[in-house]
Amino acid sequence: MGIPNPPAPGDTALKPGTFADQTVFVTGAGTGLGKAIASEFARLGANIVIASRKSEHLEAGAAAIGEIGAEVHTVTCDIREPDQIAAAFDSAEAAFGMPSVLVNNAAANFPVPAEDMSPNAWRTVVDITLNGTFFCAREFGRRHLEAGSAASIINVGASYAWTGGPGFAHSAAAKAGVKNLTESLAVEWGPSGIQVNCLVPGLFPHEDMTADIQANLAGTSDKDVCQPAMRVGHRQELGWAATFLASPYGRFISGHTLVVDGANWQRRSLVNPPMVPIREQMGRGTFEP
Ligand code: HXC
Ligand code: NAP
Repeated sequence: MGIPNPPAPGDTALKPGTFADQTVFVTGAGTGLGKAIASEFARLGANIVIASRKSEHLEAGAAAIGEIGAEVHTVTCDIREPDQIAAAFDSAEAAFGMPSVLVNNAAANFPVPAEDMSPNAWRTVVDITLNGTFFCAREFGRRHLEAGSAASIINVGASYAWTGGPGFAHSAAAKAGVKNLTESLAVEWGPSGIQVNCLVPGLFPHEDMTADIQANLAGTSDKDVCQPAMRVGHRQELGWAATFLASPYGRFISGHTLVVDGANWQRRSLVNPPMVPIREQMGRGTFEP
């Protein structure tokens, strides 16, 4: 049986207009989960700013938000570049006024055994996932500190922040940093009215997943029966969690990491399944330096 399916996309738990007159800045909202999170804020009346690198992603995100009937502004931005982030916030402010919510959703990841990972591959994933998250939070935080305005940050994490991520050592280490950063910023900026949380998706397959990650998932058996919930996540479930955290009803929640994964990361077996080395799981041959 498992955990029942959620209400259909389009349903909302919060009141209509919860985010009316507010702007929500979401990185990487042209694809997958960022688009899903932005859509839930849009449904509740927010203006949406989408920041990412690729025009086709910006267009896809804008189309999705437009269909909901919300205002949307797109801005090209590589979150590894602090100057581009500052320009993106200038552009957002010019379009809608200062965003009151930042969702640090953009991240980078590809499966690779640690011994095959080049230094630049490591740097790239850490730079986007951890440094990019900090640079965006810093720009957003400084603007609110200067204005003396309250705000909310949601950093998107991953559960291998706790467990390690064999085959994803770069991303897992970066996400551990994101979770830890959330805790530091929540305390530093709480007195100034800035709430900082981390939102951890479990397995949420979607059509925008990179080919590498899709291929990796395709190598496992049925996704649903591998989850304690007997199903994977539905995108709107993550969006609902994000909107709750940034809503007036979630204000006293700060420094928290909310996991939306049907208890998947706590899963343990009484008897371990046979150990399959990562190279074998990924269909790689013998290590060759
Ligand atoms: C090994 C790889 C690689 C791969 C890139 N590299 N892809 N190494 N396996 N599949 C190496 C390159 O060879 C290079 O190192 C370095 O990484 C940088 O590569 P570039 O292509 O120059 O980087 P860039 O153009 O900046 O692109 C970044 C990217 C790309 C991360 C490589 O995939 C990207 O833009 N991804 C964004 C979307 C994404 O990653 N989404 C996943 C989020 S999902 P050398 O040494 O050759 O110079 C997620 C969920 C986790 O996090 C949970 C899933 C179940
Ligand atoms: P995705 O579809 O690949 O989205 C990643 C987004 O990040 C893209 O829209 C991409 O846009 C943007 N991005 C990447 N590098 C960027 C950069 N340097 N500057 C600006 N934007 C950049 O992945 P997803 O599955 O939706 O994942 C969204 C978040 O959920 C990530 O933080 C991921 O780690 C987390 N997560 C996902 C799952 C899952 O099951 N899907 C599980 C755990 C955690 P551009 O290419 O246009 O820049």
